[in-house]
Amino acid sequence: ALISMRQLLDHAAENGYGMPAFNVNNLEQVQAIMEAADETNSPVIMQGSAGARNYAGEPFLRHLIMAAIEQYPHIPVCMHQDHGSEPAVCLRSIQSGFSSVMMDGSLMADCKTPSSYEYNVNVTKTVVDMAHAGGVSVEGELGCLGSLETGMMGEEDGHGAEGVLDHSSLLTDPEEAADFVEKTGVDALAIAIGTSHGAYKFTKPPTGDILSIDTVKKIHARIPNTHLVMHGSSSVPQDWLAVINEFGGEMGVTYGVPVEEIVEGIKHGVRKVNIDTDLRMASTGSIRRHLAENPSNFDPRKFYKVAKDAMKQICVDRYVAFGAAGHA
Ligand code: G3H
Ligand code: 13P
Ligand code: NA
Ligand code: ZN
Repeated sequence: ALISMRQLLDHAAENGYGMPAFNVNNLEQVQAIMEAADETNSPVIMQGSAGARNYAGEPFLRHLIMAAIEQYPHIPVCMHQDHGSEPAVCLRSIQSGFSSVMMDGSLMADCKTPSSYEYNVNVTKTVVDMAHAGGVSVEGELGCLGSLETGMMGEEDGHGAEGVLDHSSLLTDPEEAADFVEKTGVDALAIAIGTSHGAYKFTKPPTGDILSIDTVKKIHARIPNTHLVMHGSSSVPQDWLAVINEFGGEMGVTYGVPVEEIVEGIKHGVRKVNIDTDLRMASTGSIRRHLAENPSNFDPRKFYKVAKDAMKQICVDRYVAFGAAGHA
């Protein structure tokens, strides 16, 4: 059944677990997530980014998720719109039936320029008022995602950075977080702790100075009843990185957010953990290997199947590690 993010995260808080929130773009990702959830008896958050809506189209994305709900009626599913750049984007998702939306007011509508605190409060409050009128949950974001190592916002290919951020915006301030939640009424708050989107998060396995779980603890101590969200939380599996490069890929040396650090965050109020890159890497690595080892194959279902199975295994691992398994 379709449920709101608030219902799901309230349950996660009561039971002390965290929810992986997987980005989806196509059929195989949706199937991988649902097969993993079914096998582990876990609830589901699937989210569509602006890039996903651009790739698949909003109706295809929505109907894929609705098909998952029809096929697995016993699993609670939250359909979440990721990173709304302005209230109008969130309004369209609310109208089309999403049970949860994110208003990312940490950046201006260009998704690059850090916004003022007042702007963020205003746009987020606008979305909360609209969404709550229809029983839809809202995630806000305070602080900008970006690397504490480099100040970069996140790099798709490990070469060109998308933007450079002021160091002070890279860690969410606990007092400001408390004020933000009170003024906006958000159901969940994404915080900046040194993670960034994409595969190129850290040039070495992260230590506390570049991945600040300490900041999670401070914010949770200040606002214990607020569900915290970690973005950019792929772990960048080293085994898939090696497979990708073994079979013709060219990814540079890079490290993600270790699962055990996320688990530490979950002990301190993190309830939603956004993961996209890990499934992309599992998919790319498994398809590269399959095509290299089966040069005569021209039936795409064969390589989509290995991609689905590889993604499913990552989902199973996260459901179990975050404690969501058994809570559907
Ligand atoms: O928000 C970040 C997600 O990884 C989405 O990425 O815009 O390329 O779909 P995307
Ligand atoms: P990753 O790039 O680490 O998978 O993060 C995804 C994300 O935060 C989507 O909002
Ligand atoms: Na989100
Ligand atoms: Zn994100």
